[in-house]
This record gives sequence, C-alpha cells and structure tokens, in this order.
Amino acid sequence: MNTVIKPLRIGDPILRKVAQPVAASELGTHELQQLIRNMLETMRAYKGVGIAAPQIGVSKRVIIMEANNNPRYPDADPVPLTILINPELELLNDAREQGYEGCLSLGGLRGIVSWCPKVRYWGMTPEGERLERFAAGFHARIIQHEVDHLNGRLIVDRVADSRSYGFTEELRAAEIIP
Ligand code: NI
Repeated sequence: MNTVIKPLRIGDPILRKVAQPVAASELGTHELQQLIRNMLETMRAYKGVGIAAPQIGVSKRVIIMEANNNPRYPDADPVPLTILINPELELLNDAREQGYEGCLSLGGLRGIVSWCPKVRYWGMTPEGERLERFAAGFHARIIQHEVDHLNGRLIVDRVADSRSYGFTEELRAAEIIP
C-alpha cells in the first residue's frame, strides 16, 4: 500500500534531528521498502523534486530526487529518479551560485540560498549497490538540500538575507520568480 503523507513542516522537532544511518540489516526489509514508496508517493503528490525521510516523520538517512519537467522549476535540468541510502556529499569547488529555493516543509515560503555548483555524491541504492555520481547545476543543488535535511538543516538556516523570504504566490505576482 502506498501512502501520501502530509510533509512535516518547520517547527516539528523531527526536522531538526540528525537522522540515523540505515543499517545493512535493514536493506531489503519491508519497512524500508514501505518508507521509500511513501516518500516517492509524497514527493510526487506534492510536486517536489526531492524529499528526505525526516520530512515524512522517519529520522533515517534516505533521500529521493527526481526532476522531470516539474512545473515548479520550469528551467531546471532533468534529474533521473534517484533513491539513495546513507548519502554522502563532497563539494568540489569554492564557487557558489544563488537563487530562490523552496521546500515541502516550508509550505510555499522561499528564500535566496547559495549552493556549490559542482559536487560528488555517493551512497547505497535500495538494492544495496554503491552509487556514485558527479553532479552540477540543479542536480547539485537538490542533493545539497536533501542532505541538509538529514543533518537537521533547513533553508531558513541558509538564507543570508532574510528580506529575500517570500511566499511563492507573492514572489510570482511581483515577478521576482517565474
Ligand atoms: Ni526540503
């Protein structure tokens, strides 16, 4: 059974915890498969491009990314469906790019954050195989956002200028974001 879960929103302490690594013994279990299905259903139902397990109330190190003609991010490069357990991340240079970012746990609130445009990331697939990738642009941005979730970090911690905050609807009306 797949279940769409209302994403936890900022204020819920689970979002602020450092999530626990998934043990090797959990791979292939019904519980882990169910968690992944629920995350995927929820991400797609809310039209997100990424989700982390704590956002549906499970403090474990599991993330999903998928971006494919997402109406919320019309100019974004596609990112293949990627399910990653115990992901690790390395920033590959000192450059930073900036732009408006949202989050399913912020309910439409966005702010300008910066991210490293080039990263390497790795982790395990649900089948227990190692996956490693180099990512740039939007793809690099999503993985940084999702790994932040696993470390209890949210966009509000990354915004340098609090005056950039706004709700998607108002920012669009003012033509600040597309
Ligand atoms: Ni988020």
